[in-house]
Amino acid sequence: MAAYVEILKKRRSIYALGKNTELNETQITDLVKEAVKESPTAFNSQTARVVILFDQANDHLWKIVAEALRPLTPADSFANTQQKLASFNAGKGTVLFFEDHEVVKNLQNQFSLYADNFPVWSEQATGIVQHSVWTALAEKNIGASLQHYNPVIDEQVAREWDIPSSWVLRAQMPFGSIETPAGEKEYIADEGRFKVFR
Ligand SMILES: Cc1cc2nc3c(=O)[nH]c(=O)nc-3n(C[C@H](O)[C@H](O)[C@H](O)COP(=O)(O)O)c2cc1C
Repeated sequence: MAAYVEILKKRRSIYALGKNTELNETQITDLVKEAVKESPTAFNSQTARVVILFDQANDHLWKIVAEALRPLTPADSFANTQQKLASFNAGKGTVLFFEDHEVVKNLQNQFSLYADNFPVWSEQATGIVQHSVWTALAEKNIGASLQHYNPVIDEQVAREWDIPSSWVLRAQMPFGSIETPAGEKEYIADEGRFKVFR
């Protein structure tokens, strides 16, 4: 099996996170930057914007999420929600993925023929970036999962970390040491999923 495919297999959703990563904050930051920069974008538009939160900033993010969810969650299930959020907060940090819609808007004005495609390509680009980062972390034995507490946390996040108004939050990726590995993954049958012709 190709080495790259082995690394793809190593990337899983890891929910039991700790702070004992082999890489330090600087190394993780450099790794995330590289993974983002090497991800392709339509017209090389590089629409991804990323914020990495460690330590107190990470704690603060998960407090923001809890307070945003409290009024939206039935009182008798909020303890479960808090428990889940605590498991994300237990990691080393969180990557916030944004797309810069100012860039998307400018591209739409510049290339009117593709105007409808640029928002779609922006969404595809953020997915690619997220997967690149997730996989790069996995290769270094750092576990992560993909969360979507946007848009309910958007305003608070923007205020707290001085996020430009054109940056739109698309996903949150809590990461850390792998305290419990992922279980067996189930795959649907290849038949009906792939076609090969010659
Ligand atoms: C676009 C997308 C959105 C996802 N959203 C969430 C999410 O909001 N919360 C979550 O826990 N996992 C989320 N996941 C993770 C998937 O549930 C997970 O990747 C899938 O079950 C396969 O498991 P694996 O990541 O271990 O391979 C998302 C994955 C993708 C690709």
